[in-house]
Amino acid sequence: MIIVKLGGSVITKKAIPLTINRKAITQLATTLKESRLPLIIVHGAGSFGHYNAGRFRIDSGGEISNPEGIATTRESMLRLNLSLTKILQEFGLNIYSFPPIALYRDGKLEHHANKVIKEIMRINLIPLTYGDVMLGQKGFRILSGDVIVRDLALLLRPERIIFASDVDGISQEPRKKTPILNELDQGMMPKLSFSKVRNDVTGGMENKVLEAMRIAGHGIDVFFTNGLKGDQLMKALRGEKDGGTVIRGFNHEN
Ligand SMILES: Nc1ncnc2c1ncn2[C@@H]1O[C@H](COP(=O)(O)OP(=O)(O)OP(=O)(O)O)[C@@H](O)[C@H]1O
Ligand SMILES: [Mg+2]
Repeated sequence: MIIVKLGGSVITKKAIPLTINRKAITQLATTLKESRLPLIIVHGAGSFGHYNAGRFRIDSGGEISNPEGIATTRESMLRLNLSLTKILQEFGLNIYSFPPIALYRDGKLEHHANKVIKEIMRINLIPLTYGDVMLGQKGFRILSGDVIVRDLALLLRPERIIFASDVDGISQEPRKKTPILNELDQGMMPKLSFSKVRNDVTGGMENKVLEAMRIAGHGIDVFFTNGLKGDQLMKALRGEKDGGTVIRGFNHEN
């Protein structure tokens, strides 16, 4: 099994509020279908969730109690989820979509989630969930798609993880446009810099890399690939070289 995070930077036009990137989604759908791999898909918020969360000043910091903000943000995520589900379905990917609250209790992935996902996959359905405003240990919080990927990875131990975004991988100094790294390891972390991403309330690429490193620490390879490039995405899905930046799994005994 492979967990794929479809970043909001791929499936939406991040600079244009409430706009999907239909061309990117159809291309993704073709590649995912052609791969014939058993997939779990998590999608991000892009110009839907991040936009509304920003508008209502909801961020990933703490408890959220603005009902209009929560309702509006969630409604936009449902719309994005439905658009994505529809297009993936048109390409023959049989999606079973659900909000993450179906899998969590008190902010933690329930053990029951294992059974839910496996039953969905047993009959060749593809589980699809997304970053959401969700009930945590205390009140509602933003649960980012990247964190869902980490939680699922540690529970389900997939073969590999793919983070698809709108760049070819991780670069050491994005502002200086340094080339994409083929491999990234723990030792290189202090040397990395990150450009600030507008329209992202969950910490952008920096948090994604931190989550990825935690996943890799459990012996699972993590790829950062460009979801806008079918050939690169396919390589990453297959765990081949030139699929983007890879963090090799380490500490296998964990
Ligand atoms: N060191 C870096 N290497 C590569 N990209 C970086 C780096 N620092 C920042 N970025 C930026 O991170 C962006 C991708 O992160 P972002 O959170 O916007 O995407 P996403 O996770 O796909 O979207 P969403 O959060 O909506 O799901 C890229 O567009 C890139 O500009
Ligand atoms: Mg992001």
